[in-house]
Amino acid sequence: NGDIITIPVVVHVIYNSAKTEENISDAQIQSQIDVLNEDFRRTNSDADNTWSQAADTQIEFCLASVDPNGNATNGITRKSSSKASWGTSDDMKKASQGGVNPWNTAEYLNMWVCNIGGGILGYAQFPGGSAATDGVVMSPQYFGSKNKGTGFYLAANFDLGRTTTHEVGHYLNLRHIWGDGPCGSDDFVSDTPESDAANYGCATGHSSCGSTDMVQNYMDYSNDSCMNLYTQGQKDRMRAVLAPGGSRRAL
Ligand code: ARG
Ligand code: ZN
Ligand code: CA
Repeated sequence: NGDIITIPVVVHVIYNSAKTEENISDAQIQSQIDVLNEDFRRTNSDADNTWSQAADTQIEFCLASVDPNGNATNGITRKSSSKASWGTSDDMKKASQGGVNPWNTAEYLNMWVCNIGGGILGYAQFPGGSAATDGVVMSPQYFGSKNKGTGFYLAANFDLGRTTTHEVGHYLNLRHIWGDGPCGSDDFVSDTPESDAANYGCATGHSSCGSTDMVQNYMDYSNDSCMNLYTQGQKDRMRAVLAPGGSRRAL
């Protein structure tokens, strides 16, 4: 437990000029910020009591109101591109490659929203990586929540904003709940049960490694509607990188 930490966010929208639906609305972007705040503060309306270790992380997010030059901003940048898909090699983070350079990554959580392609919903950089590529990337059809507005460009099963909740978990040092390996692989969090693999869909009650899997955890691969918690141990791990001495303390 501790103080509320608020992380300033800049969202860089890069859309294919032939697919203007990728130029998602300010309202769709705000819906994602609202989801992050609910999920991280455990005020999400679908929070249930299945797991007693569920926690309010006391981490909040806001769109930046001041840009790196000290000017007022809405925390959103937009760029049209002829590129149809960007892959996972960080080109969207480089103006030299047609992307958009990050704002000072020590002070802002940079989010790029662009079509990654290859069925990839999003990807993140863990703490300690290169400043030039620090942040999270999501494809536009998985960014925002259908429950918080109308006319949004979203894909079924991943339309509640949990992809970004998951990627920001990685950005704050969380591993996948199954430890990316068989039983015995660690996510370095003691209050998440061991699991032998990712769970998909909504496999409530599925058991592996001698215990019930926590398929409701944001760091599993369940559908958005199946996820609803971070644990106290995950909270501690995330807050450690934001604390004095942590690698993201300046945020
Ligand atoms: N494939 C992505 C990753 O490993 C995220 C999956 C997010 N899941 C979801 N239900 N939105 O980072
Ligand atoms: Zn992941
Ligand atoms: Ca664990």
